[in-house]
Amino acid sequence: MSSLLVDNIGELVTNVPGTGDGSPLGLRRDAAVLVEEERVAWVGPARYAPAADRRIDAGGAAALPGFVDSHAHLVFAGDRAAEFAARMAGQPYTGGGIRTTVGATRAASDDTLRTTVRRLVGEAMRQGTTTIEIKSGYGLTVADEARSLRIAAEVSDETTFLGAHVVPTEYADRPDDYVGLVCGPMLAAAAPYARWVDVFCERGAFDADHARAILTVGQAAGLGVRLHANQLGPGPGVRLGVELGAASVDHCTHLDDADVAALAGSAAADGSGTTTVATLLPGAEFSTRSPYPDARRLLDAGVTVALATDCNPGSSYTSSMPFCVALAVREMRMTPAEAVWAATAGGARALRRTDVGVLRPGARADLTVLDAPSYLHLAYRPGVPLIRQVLHNGVPQCR
Ligand code: NIG
Ligand code: FE
Repeated sequence: MSSLLVDNIGELVTNVPGTGDGSPLGLRRDAAVLVEEERVAWVGPARYAPAADRRIDAGGAAALPGFVDSHAHLVFAGDRAAEFAARMAGQPYTGGGIRTTVGATRAASDDTLRTTVRRLVGEAMRQGTTTIEIKSGYGLTVADEARSLRIAAEVSDETTFLGAHVVPTEYADRPDDYVGLVCGPMLAAAAPYARWVDVFCERGAFDADHARAILTVGQAAGLGVRLHANQLGPGPGVRLGVELGAASVDHCTHLDDADVAALAGSAAADGSGTTTVATLLPGAEFSTRSPYPDARRLLDAGVTVALATDCNPGSSYTSSMPFCVALAVREMRMTPAEAVWAATAGGARALRRTDVGVLRPGARADLTVLDAPSYLHLAYRPGVPLIRQVLHNGVPQCR
């Protein structure tokens, strides 16, 4: 068995509560991490580090678990930079541009889509992301949704069927028929490549009845539930997600007291947080020039919060988790510790994963070494490439 020691880590975020400094980040000083094959084998003080076949010297820098980006739409073709420019000149974001991307995606070859997905996964990895969820949702035919997920599944285990992204143009005057297609043949073709089912539950997309129907049949097919909810305005999405036991409700930009109470009420019996995570996507508010979600209100109510990029060509074309951390701290009143937790352990919770977003024996050896002495620099030095080294499944990635 080959072993690798990441040694001389000045500050290590483990996300193991009750260890290190006792905070949720489980911060350790002067630490080392031993990796055997693709798993963490040991975490402890550098002075007690065991011998290993190979050694990476972190030089006193900070290290943390690889980011877990639990919300991204990477299977698409085309470009909507002009739509972004129009928004910056005052146009509102409505989600209508999704159909532009659907047209381009349907017209693209498998290889074109594959190249884009791999380019974006690589781009994310160079920014410290080692787990990334990938949604379909720009195909919206049986064949195009299935191929989107097949291509996504080549690079990630966290794949999500989002056939209910919008009603495509050819079904514009018969949305019930489109929901029937999604629940029947489209789900059947997509499910073999998907772990999750998602619906864009929003005015102009799918209402609560349609969303419930789709998520329920998805669940019956063995998929876990997550949904886009309360992004563009208030609505029933968040409460529906909690009712269905969703792993995550995503966006959560427009919440009322009942939404926050419903999320807080999904508290897990073991006191580890809420069963349904609120995943906040500040890249979308940045790129649509919208008010940011109220992270403080959710955290103060005891809701488990995750941060993700929402990487997509329309509302948030960023693959950068450090950028989202910086936005969350500056614009959403999260502390740097809360934001870094949300971008690692929080994302893992949103994907119901216990093997990522944490550095303890048995976890995946997914780890990022920063060009900085502390995780604080992720928010303190926005826009600066601070990712020095990424280990994914124990393997150092090329920069
Ligand atoms: O999460 N809200 C729905 N879906 C994406 C946007 C997709 C697009 O504009 O192409 C989102 O923001
Ligand atoms: Fe999204």
